[in-house]
Amino acid sequence: MTSQRLYGRRRCGSLTQEQNILMQSLLPKLSCENFLKECSEPKIMEIGFGGGEHIFHQATHNPSCLFLGCEPFENGVAHLLQKIEEHNVENISILNGDARFLIAGMKDKVLDVLYLLFPDPWPKKKHWKRRFFHQDNLPTLHRLLKNNGEFRIATDHASYQSWIEEILNSEMTKELFTWVNKDEAFLPWKEYVQTRYHQKALLHDREIRYYILKKN
Ligand SMILES: C[S@@+](CC[C@H](N)C(=O)[O-])C[C@H]1O[C@@H](n2cnc3c(N)ncnc32)[C@H](O)[C@@H]1O
Repeated sequence: MTSQRLYGRRRCGSLTQEQNILMQSLLPKLSCENFLKECSEPKIMEIGFGGGEHIFHQATHNPSCLFLGCEPFENGVAHLLQKIEEHNVENISILNGDARFLIAGMKDKVLDVLYLLFPDPWPKKKHWKRRFFHQDNLPTLHRLLKNNGEFRIATDHASYQSWIEEILNSEMTKELFTWVNKDEAFLPWKEYVQTRYHQKALLHDREIRYYILKKN
């Protein structure tokens, strides 16, 4: 993985009393150890889930799958915890932290699907090396996926789209992944649900692209 320093906010304003209680009482019960145990259920991970709209929707529509969301931003985690409690959801685990540390220690071939939705775009050229979708990270992400597993990405940022597509067209990436929706990258996958950053993209009239990569 590239640099291990976390860029971005961990918190914005204070949490409500209810959120603080959930962070202390519910979050420890949803630790990723449960998700990482050997089991036959399909496993799906989302990196940087923000407010948790997508992982919550996916988990409630796929009760026989296990989900793991990684998000360092506490307000987003607290928001998802409230929804988990309100709806008694039992198939979501949460890491309130940097996905890169977890990923580095995960076993091979554990994931059926990995989602990366609206990753921080880092628009300045000098910051491009911080982008999560990075050639250097792909071998690790490939290693985590089961055979035929999928890595799904969405972004509305034009320069990030060009960056992703350039990487996808490189010979190195083609050995690892097949870009299965190359001709339909403007269409979301089944059961996609709009996230907060998706809504922001719509407000600013930005085109969203969805990438589905199948592990070779
Ligand atoms: C632009 S926001 C998108 C949030 C959400 N996916 C959405 O579509 O609304 C990017 C998110 O990625 C998270 N993030 C950034 N670096 C991360 C990392 N190393 N591990 C996990 N999450 C990360 C940020 O905290 C932020 O919530």
